[in-house]
Amino acid sequence: MSTTLVIGATGHVGRPLVAELSSRQVAVRALVRRPDAAGLPAGVELVAGDLADLASVSAAAAGVDRVFLVWPFTTSEGFGAVLDALGSDVRRLVYLSSAGSVPFHDEVEALIAQSGLSWTFLRPSGFAVNTLGWAAGIQAGEVRLPYGAAARPLIDERDTAAVGVRALLEPGHAGKVHELSGPVALTQVEQVSTIASVLGREVRFVELTPEEGRAMFRAAWGDSPYVDGAIAGLAQWVHTPERTTTTVADILGRPAIPFRAWVEANAPRFGAQEA
Ligand SMILES: NC(=O)c1ccc[n+]([C@@H]2O[C@H](COP(=O)([O-])OP(=O)(O)OC[C@H]3O[C@@H](n4cnc5c(N)ncnc54)[C@H](OP(=O)(O)O)[C@@H]3O)[C@@H](O)[C@H]2O)c1
Repeated sequence: MSTTLVIGATGHVGRPLVAELSSRQVAVRALVRRPDAAGLPAGVELVAGDLADLASVSAAAAGVDRVFLVWPFTTSEGFGAVLDALGSDVRRLVYLSSAGSVPFHDEVEALIAQSGLSWTFLRPSGFAVNTLGWAAGIQAGEVRLPYGAAARPLIDERDTAAVGVRALLEPGHAGKVHELSGPVALTQVEQVSTIASVLGREVRFVELTPEEGRAMFRAAWGDSPYVDGAIAGLAQWVHTPERTTTTVADILGRPAIPFRAWVEANAPRFGAQEA
């Protein structure tokens, strides 16, 4: 039986992807940095490794014909060597990219496209799970953010994973770029009010100035290239919401999961038990 290697198996998308592959009786191997802490379904073959250790990547890819890959870095440095390390058994590569214009994703995609592999790129919009970053504010009854009117169709990570499973297992996805999103764009004010409504809490939205927002992101992320990108993206989505696509529904044959349903499924992670 052919084996699927998942790199990033313990992440937001990798975890539901592995669960779905396992439930379909697909043989799954996961390259993980800490096998003891992986917490993946029984039957998943755990291979200890690290993307920085090329020998471990080669060992994990031996005898594997399909790979789902998360590149968990913010530059493409070292990616070409990892691609080489995957070796000649691998035929299909599904890469978790991004809908946003992110230089390292563009560079990684270009290297994969030149590799001769049969590839599929998933380009999701903002992840619904990002809103867990507001959990402390939600608990305190006040979320402070810049650009409350910025609208994004946040995607449930289970939908990205489900499309990934189709791209790995089914024909018709080779050479395709799947632009993925949730079903509808919600402003940040609407996202916060949805969370408050599901949790049964009063939560005030406090609009920060762009400069206050930049300082807040810097404090959280350090001197990251994401700070300027995040501020610019939010400013843009006030006037032009991040694009909503029908790709999830087209591929899965059911609607994309609404943000409210994501919140309902994840309510305890906001500290809902205290509501
Ligand atoms: N958040 C968003 O809104 C958004 C939107 C579009 C695209 N994306 C893209 O999605 C990707 C992240 O996906 P995600 O959120 O599912 O991942 P994630 O939750 O951030 O998890 C990262 C995964 O990579 C693994 N990992 C980290 N460093 C590693 C290393 N050196 N060697 C091997 N494995 C390593 C982690 O394993 P451990 O258990 O060992 O830590 C974990 O499984 C990024 O490329 C991001 O740009 C994100």
